Amino acid sequence: MTEVKNPPRHVAIIMDGNGRWAQKKGLPRSMGHKKGAEAVKKIVEAAGEAGVKFLTLYAFSTENWNRPEDEVKTLMDLLRQYLKSQLRELQEKGVRILFIGERDMLDKDIIQAMNSLEKETADNDKITLCIALSYGSRQEIVSAAKKIAALAKRGDIAPEDIDIKMFSDMLYTSTIPDPDLLIRTSGEQRISNYLLWQIAYAELAFTNVLWPDFGKEEFNEILQNYSLRERRYGKV
Ligand code: IPE
Ligand code: IPE
Ligand code: MG
Repeated sequence: MTEVKNPPRHVAIIMDGNGRWAQKKGLPRSMGHKKGAEAVKKIVEAAGEAGVKFLTLYAFSTENWNRPEDEVKTLMDLLRQYLKSQLRELQEKGVRILFIGERDMLDKDIIQAMNSLEKETADNDKITLCIALSYGSRQEIVSAAKKIAALAKRGDIAPEDIDIKMFSDMLYTSTIPDPDLLIRTSGEQRISNYLLWQIAYAELAFTNVLWPDFGKEEFNEILQNYSLRERRYGKV
């Protein structure tokens, strides 16, 4: 178990590189996704041990719906399996589950499993695991703008009332703090429509390790490095 001094309160991760991991081994992409799902469990555990209170994982983006049908099906089947098998372990580890994203795009049984996991784990307080599923940050921001416009049209608020706090409260992430640290695996250095508003002042960390190979050691090394950084928020 690794103690980390001043751990980030909230870590967000773009879990990338499953396909390349499989390709490198001459395996189908689906095997990479399977291995990737296993890596999730290790990192949830490592985050809890390090004292991280919120972990947000990018599991499936709105743009990922455009992948070939059989790959989307593989990902949805893995997700289904994860959601339906994890309850006991999450309870034992004190994990509270939340989901962010466009739920209506998902199959009914998956939505049901999500709702019930959120409900069953609502009182756990060791760590909050937030899973971004069918998530797109621009879509999230547009939907927040629509909610605010509707309030203004009804006369419930005036345009001058709109501020950063109100806008944040209209996002899917309204109940959790902004990420302190954003990690992306697999060597890509881009955000891919993830938490655009929320990462305004997050520290960024990129690693070449592919997600299925990303383990506790790699995670803790990034946290150690984070603890040495100075966050200035525009001040001197
Ligand atoms: C991340 O791995 C998982 C999802 C996006 C669902 P990828 O499937 O993007 O793997 P690469 O980037 O093709 O290697
Ligand atoms: C981002 O990875 C989405 C997830 C990790 C779920 P992608 O592999 O979809 O992103 P791009 O296509 O490389 O930008
Ligand atoms: Mg990718």
